[in-house]
Amino acid sequence: MFAPVYFDHNASTPLEPAVFDAMLPWLTARFGNASSRHEYGRDARRAIDVARQQVAAAVGADATEVIFTSGGSEANNLFIKGAAACLKPGLLAVSAIEHPCVIKPAEQLSRRGWLLHKLAVDADGRIDCGQYEEVMRQKPKLVSVMLANNETGVLQDIAALAPRARAFGAAFHTDAVQAVGKVAVDFRALNAAGVGAMTLSAHKIGGPKGAAALVLDKRIEIEPLIAGGGHERGLRSGTENVAAIVGFGAACALIGQRLAAAGPEMVALRSRLETGLAAIGATLFGAGAPRLPNTVYFALSGLDGETLVGHLDRAGYAVASGAACSSANPEPSHVLGAMGVVPELARSAVRISLGAGNTREEIEGFLMSLQMTAAKLQRLTAMAV
Ligand SMILES: Cc1ncc(COP(=O)(O)O)c(C=O)c1O
Repeated sequence: MFAPVYFDHNASTPLEPAVFDAMLPWLTARFGNASSRHEYGRDARRAIDVARQQVAAAVGADATEVIFTSGGSEANNLFIKGAAACLKPGLLAVSAIEHPCVIKPAEQLSRRGWLLHKLAVDADGRIDCGQYEEVMRQKPKLVSVMLANNETGVLQDIAALAPRARAFGAAFHTDAVQAVGKVAVDFRALNAAGVGAMTLSAHKIGGPKGAAALVLDKRIEIEPLIAGGGHERGLRSGTENVAAIVGFGAACALIGQRLAAAGPEMVALRSRLETGLAAIGATLFGAGAPRLPNTVYFALSGLDGETLVGHLDRAGYAVASGAACSSANPEPSHVLGAMGVVPELARSAVRISLGAGNTREEIEGFLMSLQMTAAKLQRLTAMAV
């Protein structure tokens, strides 16, 4: 396969070789059902127990707080719908920039008697603290604010937001899918500040697709979305995907390495990228806020983001326009909309998300390609008018 330079690590990451090695036996000889009462079953159960410890250790949680799910999407749905099912309908507050797998279940609840408030962000994509405080005073029952945004990479000050939610009696959830492995995440410290639940996903950290977790403070009651044999403390039934869970654990065991790779060298690559983009007149989104070290979100005014992504793909660079998960959606990004970016500029948005393997040469090559591609598209646009 022709292999373009991969600049889309917020969409998914390559499987770490050590993760593949750890998973392989569970796809071949070690095939038991972890609920079986024979050696094949016990073998699988032990492997899940080890993975649970590894996941917990990577984010400073206790193994008993980890509920394995099929993905970050399921974990987010499990918290929003599962916690709501244990409460009388009331106010539910989620940030306006959440991933659709938080926004959509919240909207589903709003059709079933809940009052949904989408928390505003400022022009840099950070929660508007004044408005947040006002909403907390209305005593929401559930609050969800993501730790890092998948499009802009902008980080929220969860340790400051969660205590205000707790003070008014809300259960607070944070989607940490994009943060883990890029910045240090400590559930114990967040939990002490009032975070009751947190979502993780394996395929964003060098693990396989189809494995994730909701880390849940056991004092928060939730109903399972999937009832059945009572797996995962009765909160998520279904025969465990042992290989994927083992891979998730193995990826978590490498979290220190990932964090080291997301250090000053990656920030230097991002800075070079941003200087190059600014030099060709790009608008950078969220650049004034604390952000993930790997993410750059920009727009070249007048050039359609989707079109640019297609041309860059043919030129050998894999980047994203808006969120990959919603790239079938022709609407401009709701994240940029919430930041007050006008739809015409939002339609031009392109996201670059770096990973450990990316090099300075790749960045220089990309900037050259982008400049040529943009000039060509600008000529074509000018001819068309
Ligand atoms: C912030 C965020 N939350 C949740 C998800 C969904 O995770 P998964 O792909 O494991 O369902 C994504 C995926 O892109 C994401 O970026």
